[in-house]
Amino acid sequence: MGASSALLSPAVLMTFLVAVGSLMAYPEVVTAKHAGITRHYHFDIKLKNITRLCRTKSIVAVNGKFPGPRLIAREGDRLVVEVVNHVPNNISIHWHGVRQLRSGWADGPSYITQCPIQTGQSYVYNFTISGQRGTLFWHAHISWLRATVYGPLIILPKRNESYPFVKPYKEVPILFGEWFNADPEAVINQSLQTGAGPNVSDAYTLNGLPGPLYNCSSKDTYKLKVKPGKTYLLRLINAALNDELFFSIANHSFTVVEADAVYVKPFVTNTLVIAPGQTTNVLLKTKPQAPNATFFMLARPYFTGMGAFDNTTVAGILEYETPSSSSSSISSKNHPLLKPGLPAINATNFVAKFSSKFRSLATTKFPANVPQKVDKKFFFTVGLGSSPCPKNQTCQGPNGTKFAASMNNISFALPRTALLQSYFFAQSNRGYTTDFPAFPLHPFNYTGTPPNNTLVTNGTKVVVIPFNTSVEVVLQDTSILGAESHPLHLHGYNFYVVGQGFGNFDPNKDPAKFNVVDPAERNTVGVPSGGWVAIRFQADNPGVWLMHCHLDVHLSWGLRMAWIVLDGELPNQKLPPPPSDLPKC
Ligand code: C2O
Repeated sequence: MGASSALLSPAVLMTFLVAVGSLMAYPEVVTAKHAGITRHYHFDIKLKNITRLCRTKSIVAVNGKFPGPRLIAREGDRLVVEVVNHVPNNISIHWHGVRQLRSGWADGPSYITQCPIQTGQSYVYNFTISGQRGTLFWHAHISWLRATVYGPLIILPKRNESYPFVKPYKEVPILFGEWFNADPEAVINQSLQTGAGPNVSDAYTLNGLPGPLYNCSSKDTYKLKVKPGKTYLLRLINAALNDELFFSIANHSFTVVEADAVYVKPFVTNTLVIAPGQTTNVLLKTKPQAPNATFFMLARPYFTGMGAFDNTTVAGILEYETPSSSSSSISSKNHPLLKPGLPAINATNFVAKFSSKFRSLATTKFPANVPQKVDKKFFFTVGLGSSPCPKNQTCQGPNGTKFAASMNNISFALPRTALLQSYFFAQSNRGYTTDFPAFPLHPFNYTGTPPNNTLVTNGTKVVVIPFNTSVEVVLQDTSILGAESHPLHLHGYNFYVVGQGFGNFDPNKDPAKFNVVDPAERNTVGVPSGGWVAIRFQADNPGVWLMHCHLDVHLSWGLRMAWIVLDGELPNQKLPPPPSDLPKC
């Protein structure tokens, strides 16, 4: 097909190759080249009745599944996902952690890269996965709909490529979620109305199941049946709304091999910490012989803030198959059920130590391309604050105000039209300003005694940077209304975590200690409670990219901002125009 194929666009060509490949039943012939294949998925967003903790309610779900369907691709593949909205709510889907190189229209955050998909409408998300392999996830990106609208996104290595670790016998996604007996939309809407903190969840879930430590829930327990002497790859995903989690399995340890779809230098641990928005792949080596015991897999929150939180524990069960597997469930009934210990709820030092263990492979094959020189430095405070109570209303937030959250004291207000549209079409009434401050306008002792004035300002402010700027951002927690860990997530990029510490960042001393050799490469990093973290990235992806706390309560309160990365000079450094079915506001 040589000459004629040059006339086809890459997308058409790929579809054609896939068709030919499957017709000839030799798909390997096609995929052995670097191109990858196109995989089509269909998401029907519908209401579904579901029972947990002895209550039946209606949830928003994808294809009638909870958690939602698994997306699988290989590195280099194109994903085409048609999302059809059959529910009363507006919705959009975000492919969390996917780089979206020059495909920003498919990123998904409502009012940032697209208007939400309205009832009865649909949108086709079309993007290619390049240079990533491991576990990511997808979730709704509007209000709190991701409480029930989420699922795994698994990126396998290219065909003919292998993992840089022992080939697992089996791979198992483990999704952590958060369950509300009430409608999560009602919970956040009430909080935004009254200004009070939202009601906390009623349970955590493991693959959608709360497990036996909750009332009326033991039949809803996730069981992982394993064979002795094998290596399992657990793909851990924290899809909970508002809680970082500790996770451990009794009498077993894990080897961490990948985080946020980037391989890491392997390290062994008994307990993991995983923040909302983070994913971690671990190897679980089972005992050589089936032990006479079953093992709890437990997760419960890490929390240091001042507000209320869901202080419960989700449990699953790890069970060994015995040779005569038919009798296994009977015999294992008499086995003791062992429980792992977990760190204290507020074990901040444990968390800091754990997160500093993540290191890039930094090999020729998997290099750590850490920007060595920085073009532009930023310093953003992240934390809580308050907004004045509207006249003729009483508010239930701090001192009769409303809870808010901010970066550099700006609580980000969503625009009426998607920022990417306003920017791309250079609309005169663009609904945002480009004056997001690079540094706090009023510096203070960020982690000391909090200031009396806790008011934030509201705005839709963005930072504009030229294509390929190398960026450093120090994210500094504040103690306003309580120091707290904030899992900050950046869309459109991975970043390198070059440093972290407690207290206030010291621009004179701290940069000397930055790791610019093999720092972790992630899309979500915990800003330590009462501390700071420094990240670097190369702004090589033009578009509008949201950065926000992945605790949905803080996101709703405004702990978010956006970057506009301008087009570069060359044709392949420009954002293409939107697809024709891009939803309208
Ligand atoms: Cu997983 Cu903007 O989020």
